[in-house]
This record gives sequence, C-alpha cells and structure tokens, in this order.
Amino acid sequence: MENDLVMNDASGPAFDETQVPLYYSRKTKDILHKYGPGPRVHFHLGLFGKDEAPNTTVAQDVLRRRITDSQERVLTHAAQQWRVDHRPSAEILDIGCGLGGGSIFWAQKHGASVQGLTVAEDHIPVIEDLARRAGVSDRVRARAQDVHELDEESRYDGAVAIESSGYMDRERLFAVAAKALRPGGWFGIQEHFICRPEWTEFIDAYYKTRLGTLTEYIRSARQAGLELEQDEDITDGVAEFWVQSMAWSTAELERAERTGEPSPIKRERLTESALTHGKLFRIWRDHAVETRLLLFRKGS
Ligand SMILES: C[S@@+](CC[C@H](N)C(=O)[O-])C[C@H]1O[C@@H](n2cnc3c(N)ncnc32)[C@H](O)[C@@H]1O
Repeated sequence: MENDLVMNDASGPAFDETQVPLYYSRKTKDILHKYGPGPRVHFHLGLFGKDEAPNTTVAQDVLRRRITDSQERVLTHAAQQWRVDHRPSAEILDIGCGLGGGSIFWAQKHGASVQGLTVAEDHIPVIEDLARRAGVSDRVRARAQDVHELDEESRYDGAVAIESSGYMDRERLFAVAAKALRPGGWFGIQEHFICRPEWTEFIDAYYKTRLGTLTEYIRSARQAGLELEQDEDITDGVAEFWVQSMAWSTAELERAERTGEPSPIKRERLTESALTHGKLFRIWRDHAVETRLLLFRKGS
C-alpha cells in the first residue's frame, strides 16, 4: 500500500508502517518466553544501578529475573520522577502498550484506569488474560488501533509511550496525544534518540523503528501544545541491559543444545541477538544513541 510508505525526516529511507504489526504479531511468543511469565510482561530496556555490572555466568533464570526486575525498576523510577499520583480516578492512555506490562503496572501500582493501544491485534487476548491474572481486568482495557488514527478529546489525565514512539510519526503522535489529554495532562515518554546518525540505519533495521532526535520531539510536541517539563538521560543506567540480554540469549542457545529441547525463539534470531546486543551495548556506552525519560505537559 503506497500510502503506508512514509518518508523519514531528513529524507531517510521510506518507513513501511505495515511492517510494524507483522513484526509484533510474530514476536508475541518470543516476548512471553523471554520476558514472561508475567502477569506484567514488558518489552523495553531496564534500569541498572550506577556501575552495576553483575556477573553473567549464572543460571538463566537469574538472568531473566534481573532483566524483568530492571524493566520494572525503570517504570518505578519514571513514576517517581513524573510524580504519577496515587489517584484512583486517574485515567491513563498507554500508547503502544505491547503485552500490557506497563498498563497493568499503572493500574496495580498507581490505581489508574488504563486504556492500552497496540497495532498488533493478536496481543489483545494475551493482554486480557494477563490483566485477569493480575486482578485488574476492570481497570485495564486494550484496543487494537493505530495511534495515528486516535480521535479522542480531553479524555485522559496522563499518557505514556514506553519505547513505542520510535515507530510513530511524531507530529501526528503529539497532535493526537495533546488532543486526547485533559488540560494540565501529562505525557511521559521513554525512548531512544539518535546522537550519531551513522547508527540510524543499523538500529532502525534491527527494530523496524524510525528513531528521531530530541530536538525533533521537542519541536513536534510544542507544535501540538505540549511543553517539555523533564528530560532525564538514563543511557548509562540502561546500557547494562544489553549485556544481560545477550547473556540470556547465549544461555538459551546453550540450553537448547544441551537438552535437545528447542527454544520457541528461532535459532537465527537468538544468534542474531547474541551478536547484535554486544554491538548495541557499545553504541549505548558511547552515547551514539541515548535513552531518555521525557515528560511533557499540556497547558491548563
Ligand atoms: C517496543 S514495544 C513496547 C511495548 C510496551 N510499551 C512495553 O514497554 O512493554 C512497541 C509497541 O508499540 C506498538 N506500536 C507501534 N506502532 C504503533 C502505532 N502506530 N499505534 C499503536 N501502537 C503502535 C506496538 O504494537 C508495540 O506494542
């Protein structure tokens, strides 16, 4: 479909929006296997302490626990920084909700009612099942919808996009988010930002993203009436995630080899992860790409 081919900023290669739902539908069982069993299953980088580099020659379960703990730690940190109130009535829009780990987190830990949005239709029953297991089915709803098509007005107190805005057209994203927020509403983002453009193609090809720059985000947000209130660089804290993730993939390859019990994740993808994550670690260590937590606010 020609309309789905969108030019990247600075005349980069065309971005094919139709690939994103396919990519995520294919990944569901991989995500559950590596980051599960939940009920809060996340698919984003996690936060480690300053200079924390735990030994990776440990059991695979220990690696998995470290990875999932670090994912929860970054959300806990973001919630503190963004001062997400413990208001039982707060309504939050989780843009690009993945398997709903974040949505369930905001509902369980902050008493929010959450509307998740994802482009991967087959994630919906998985999210519903996980929300049921977490006991928050009444406060977590998920809908398959492309956020660019969102047409809600003054509906939410807050919105989050945790490592999902990199798939989106930022001008459209900020415009629909600003419209969907109530006056004074907040929009919290965790995302990776390109600092050295020579890495753009490599990362976008690996994740099927169209990452941007911080300046581009701030400009698009301002156009939509959202002002930047907080900007925290968490690159050093999340770089270690790649090392632990690489160790988990290597352990998974070894486990399959040793037991003869194949991994639900394709062998080629595990090998690719194990090799690529070493490179990604160095990219993050050198700040060629930065991960930041941003908070925007709509004027009241
Ligand atoms: C890296 S995952 C992050 C998932 C989740 N936020 C988390 O932290 O676990 C990116 C998510 O963005 C969603 N996504 C990508 N493009 C989207 C779009 N145009 N509209 C809605 N969701 C989108 C994908 O379906 C996927 O769930």
